[in-house]
Amino acid sequence: MITLSQQLQTDGVKPSLLELIEHLIRAAADITKLVNRGELEGITGQTKQQNIQGEVQQTLDIEANRLIKNRLLQCSHVKTLASEEEDTVVPGFDKGEYAVAFDPLDGSSNIAVNGQIGTIFSILPATSADSTSELHFKQAGHAQLAAGYVLYGPATSLMLTTANGTRGYTWCNKLNTFVRTFAELKLPTQNQQVAINFANHSHWPKPIQSYLTRLLTCKESGGEGYNMRWNAAMVSDVHRVMLQGGCFVYPQEQRTGREQGKLRLLYEAAPMAMLIENAGGLAYSGQQRILDIEVAKLHQRVPVVLGSPDNVRGYLNQCN
Ligand code: F6P
Repeated sequence: MITLSQQLQTDGVKPSLLELIEHLIRAAADITKLVNRGELEGITGQTKQQNIQGEVQQTLDIEANRLIKNRLLQCSHVKTLASEEEDTVVPGFDKGEYAVAFDPLDGSSNIAVNGQIGTIFSILPATSADSTSELHFKQAGHAQLAAGYVLYGPATSLMLTTANGTRGYTWCNKLNTFVRTFAELKLPTQNQQVAINFANHSHWPKPIQSYLTRLLTCKESGGEGYNMRWNAAMVSDVHRVMLQGGCFVYPQEQRTGREQGKLRLLYEAAPMAMLIENAGGLAYSGQQRILDIEVAKLHQRVPVVLGSPDNVRGYLNQCN
C-alpha cells in the first residue's frame, strides 16, 4: 500500500507543500466523519444565511468551511485563503508561501438527501507581501501548484495533481490516511457519456441547445445516443468523467445572472481543469482553455466543458 504522503515524497513534492496538503487532508477526514453521521449530527439542514452569491448556506457548507479554515490556519505555509463561503480573503501567516482557494462543500443540494458531495481545492503560489490582498488569487489556472477534490461518497476518494499527473486515493480508516488506488489517471479519448443538467436547455444559446439535443437523441452519433448523467455535484460528475471518460458541461445561459454559467473559476473550474488536463483531457470555456483565464474577481463564474479530448473538441466545434 502506498500512502498519500509516501506518494508525494516519491513525486518530489516540496516539504512545505506536502505539509499544506496534509492539513487539507486532515480537514477532509474531519468532514468525512461529520458526513458519515448525517442527520444524527444535525448537519443536513439549511441556515437563514446567504453567501456572497446569494445562495442559501446549508449548515454543512458553514461547518465544512470552518473545519477547512481551522486546519489551514494552523499551517504556517499558508499566506491567505479564499473560499466560496467567505466574501473576501482570509489572511494566514505573513511568511506563508501559498494561497489556497476552496469550495468547502460542493453539491450542497445533495446534503439533504444523503447524496454525493465534495470539497474542491486549488493551491497557488502567494504573489504579494500582503496576506489580506486578493492579488494572490488573480492568477491564471496554469499557475496552480496543486489541485484536487475529495468526494464524500460510499467511500471517500481524493483526486490530486501536483506536477506529476493526476493520481487517485481512497480513505483508509485503519491507516487514518489516504491510500493510492489509481497510480496515474488517463482519460479515455472519448466516451458516449455526457454530464449535463438538461433542465437548463431552454436557456442555452441555440447551437448548444441543438448540439446537446442531437447527442442525446442519437442524431449526432448516427446510432446509439449518448448516455446522460447528472448527480448535481460537480465533484461526483467530474469523478465519473475522470474514471470513464466523456464530458461534463455547464454552459453559459441567456437568463440574467447566468451569462457566464454557474460554476466559479477560482475554486471549481480551474482546479478541475488542472486535474483533467494532467490526466490527458481538455478543459475549455468557449474557445479559451480554462487554465489560461486570469481570475479577475474571487467569485467570478465561467462556462465549462471538460473531459475526454474528442468529446470536448466535438462540443467546441459545434457550439461556438
Ligand atoms: O457549485 C455548484 C454546483 O452545486 C455544482 O457542484 C454542480 O455541478 C451544479 O452546481 C449543480 O447545478 P444544478 O443546480 O444546475 O443541478
